Amino acid sequence: MALSEQMARKLNDQVTAEFYSAYYYLGMAVAFNAMGLKVFSERFFEQYDEEIAHGMKLLRYLLDHKAPAELQEIRRPPQDWQSAEQIIQAAREHETYVTGLINALVAQAEQDRDDETHSFLQWYVDEQVEEEESMEELLDLVKSAGPAGLAAAEQQLAAMMSKDE
Ligand SMILES: [Fe+2]
Ligand SMILES: [Fe+2]
Repeated sequence: MALSEQMARKLNDQVTAEFYSAYYYLGMAVAFNAMGLKVFSERFFEQYDEEIAHGMKLLRYLLDHKAPAELQEIRRPPQDWQSAEQIIQAAREHETYVTGLINALVAQAEQDRDDETHSFLQWYVDEQVEEEESMEELLDLVKSAGPAGLAAAEQQLAAMMSKDE
């Protein structure tokens, strides 16, 4: 089934949103690196890769459906982060925002009675649950560590990351 014009446009916007998310987290990875928090930095480099994969999957879906794909501008991400907790808090909020974008895509698929796109989007719905949970987990980690306990938090995070592999 061909995608509706609105759906094609919204999916294009979501490609941009995912690439922006990648760039947003890349800025955080660089900030963590500057703070000397190498494990947090690595965690956000990995998050960059994940967001690129989210964007690519959407772009391929558009192309597979012969829908117009247009690469849009990706804006400069914030880079004046003050603390680890501030970064993770912002990342946590960003994932909630992205979940809202995904829900709007699902609503469009329902409106279009586009079952194929609806089921394609289910992967993103599930992914957002995981993304929100994992950012929440990171937030708990930095909050309970406090500014003085970040070295220990890095060790804990390294253990969490090796378990996920
Ligand atoms: Fe994403
Ligand atoms: Fe994400």
